[in-house]
Amino acid sequence: MLFIVGIIICFTHIFAILGSPPIVLWHGMGDSCCNPLSLGSIIKLIEKEITPAPYVHSLRIGANVEEDTTNGFFMNANHQIDYACKLLNADKNLTNGYHAVGFSQGGQFLRAIAQRCPNPPMLNLISIGGQHQGVFGFPRCPGDNVTICNYIRELLRFGVYESVIQDHLVQAEYWQDPHQEATYRRVSVFLADINQERTFNPDYKTNFLKIRNLVLVKFLRDTMVDPHESEHFGFYAENNTAKIVPLRESTLYANDLLGLKIMDQQSRIKFLESDTDHLRFTDQWFIDNIIPFLKD
Ligand SMILES: *[C@@H]1O[C@H](CO)[C@@H](O)[C@H](O)[C@H]1NC(C)=O
Ligand SMILES: *[C@@H]1O[C@H](CO)[C@@H](O)[C@H](O)[C@H]1NC(C)=O
Ligand SMILES: *[C@@H]1O[C@H](CO)[C@@H](O)[C@H](O)[C@H]1NC(C)=O
Repeated sequence: MLFIVGIIICFTHIFAILGSPPIVLWHGMGDSCCNPLSLGSIIKLIEKEITPAPYVHSLRIGANVEEDTTNGFFMNANHQIDYACKLLNADKNLTNGYHAVGFSQGGQFLRAIAQRCPNPPMLNLISIGGQHQGVFGFPRCPGDNVTICNYIRELLRFGVYESVIQDHLVQAEYWQDPHQEATYRRVSVFLADINQERTFNPDYKTNFLKIRNLVLVKFLRDTMVDPHESEHFGFYAENNTAKIVPLRESTLYANDLLGLKIMDQQSRIKFLESDTDHLRFTDQWFIDNIIPFLKD
């Protein structure tokens, strides 16, 4: 009896000492690191559900919240990845590894971190509405600022694959036009690169395979991402927007350019769904579906 009590005390003690791994968050387009209504409420929820509360680092790309929000539209995604990599390297609390949770475009950005920035080590990667095969339209403006959104639509219409736009407009950098696949592969400065569509970078696969689990959340009633299957790595067939090619039928998977096939065969990819609009999950859904991946 005493022995069992001893073991129980011992376990409790160990968990109290070790705690859960730290967590890194990356916000979505139109949002920032520190909005109390968005990531702020997620941090509160994590702190309430996991005891002792883990260390949380919500990435801020820029010197302040305003810059962080603007950079989500206008700072080249590759520079954002470099910037975030430096922040992660500098944070000594992350040295032994961290779980990563990306919201919307923060999902594909954190995947780029896993591929390009393996230190400190990422443990689980949770992508909540990330567009891993890009987008071919923003049917509705995310964020509060409709002015910025309309401006971005204009720029995309002007010439999504013009180099001046590719270099400066984040949303152009993960724009995949199924009617211009060859152009996309040639000029897309971000998505075509991390999806190994221009050249094959073996480090991307080696690094990506180091993560434990890839958790992909798709929003079934998403009105912001076209097509929302991109959140599960699906996309339109070439020249045919009436047909979706799911991950398991894609070239990326068949040739296993990123290790997704290996991960899938080892049941390390979790395909989750929320029957809501983009990022509109409930607290209970987050507790039931995401918190378990953040606990150890
Ligand atoms: C590291 O984590 C501890 C405990 O959560 C916290 O008190 C400290 O401020 C963190 N350090 C940095 C650099 O954020
Ligand atoms: C929207 O963004 C534009 C351009 O940055 C800015 O001038 C305007 O004040 C913003 N509007 C709101 C409501 O925040
Ligand atoms: C898609 O259309 C382009 C331009 O018409 C053509 O060059 C390409 O071969 C087509 N691809 C497929 C798979 O039909």
